[in-house]
Amino acid sequence: MKLKIAVLPGDGVGPEVTAQAVKVLKAIAQEFDHTFQFKYAPVGAVAIDETGEPLPKTTLDLCKATDAILFGAIGDPKYDNDPSAKVRPEQGLLKLRKELGLYANIRPVKAYDTLLDKSPLKRHIIKGTDICIYRELTGGIYFGEKKLSDDGNTASDLCEYTRAEIERITHLAFKSAQSRKRKVTLVDKANVLESSRLWRRVVTEVSQEYKDVKLDFLFVDNAAMQIILNPKQFDVILTENMFGDIISDEASVIGGSIGLLASASVGDYFAMFEPIHGSYPQAKDLGIANPIASILSAAMLLDHFGLFEEAELIREGVERSLKLNITTPDLNTKFNHISTSKVGDFIEDFINNPKDNNMNFTNIHLGQSTII
Ligand code: IPM
Ligand code: MG
Repeated sequence: MKLKIAVLPGDGVGPEVTAQAVKVLKAIAQEFDHTFQFKYAPVGAVAIDETGEPLPKTTLDLCKATDAILFGAIGDPKYDNDPSAKVRPEQGLLKLRKELGLYANIRPVKAYDTLLDKSPLKRHIIKGTDICIYRELTGGIYFGEKKLSDDGNTASDLCEYTRAEIERITHLAFKSAQSRKRKVTLVDKANVLESSRLWRRVVTEVSQEYKDVKLDFLFVDNAAMQIILNPKQFDVILTENMFGDIISDEASVIGGSIGLLASASVGDYFAMFEPIHGSYPQAKDLGIANPIASILSAAMLLDHFGLFEEAELIREGVERSLKLNITTPDLNTKFNHISTSKVGDFIEDFINNPKDNNMNFTNIHLGQSTII
């Protein structure tokens, strides 16, 4: 298969982790005889520094002209601490999502058996967790009208949804549930918010077309508690934009590190793949950022194009690296010298030689004695 992939490394650790995903995709292309062409473009704070805009037109045009987008991370502390900044890096990501119509953000959350003790949650609570969050991504409070009074003392953000916006992601969530454990939980705040009551009505109607899937409802405050109290009760979680942002960070605790969580943002025409973590500016250029979320986002990219065997091979490589403790310091207190790029090298090596047990660590300059 021929794929043109736009690579938007962005800010902070974005470039380091994205480089590992690209490395892994190149190994896949080589092993499976695909042609992946990578085209790079700036976004976020680096784009503001270069062009004055967080999403330059040339970057957006490139994204529209490619088959898929691999996104790194966005954000820089110099903007976080300046509420009056007119241009912010995050605007680049939000504009990209909106312009490309990426209305569904899919965030799988899984407890890896080998990492059960890395989570602050008890192993018997998280063992076997397998959740897929469907977060609405182009509507709600993120995109509603924003107001600030002239005296600067009153502000508001409108949370608005239309039936059509709710319907399209609901269909995707139900279809996904059909190939999973056949359960969708709608997370909302229907006891308070009118927009949530619309979600309940529309989702209930759409659910009639999927009689084989059970539909459940949870208020977001209760859901926040249930996710860490009993995560195994969930299969597909469907929710609006901001609730999804919050509960997906919370759910990442189950896996042991936010550095493991990948996501796909899809619409009717475009698709973008990105780790859910942020730019982690404190770690920039230190080689300590976990590249697995980015690498697993590349696996989701391959799934999106029906390259399931290829995606599975990446996941196997990731599981192998976790099992052998070839991980960055967020997961690895014992061998904390294993860098971002070494993890990438290991998974690349696994793809090139999946059969050889991967005990040949000298290949990847890790040095056997440090591992065993
Ligand atoms: C995410 C991030 C973004 C969001 C930020 C960087 C705008 O937190 O993708 O979860 O809030 O959607
Ligand atoms: Mg977030």
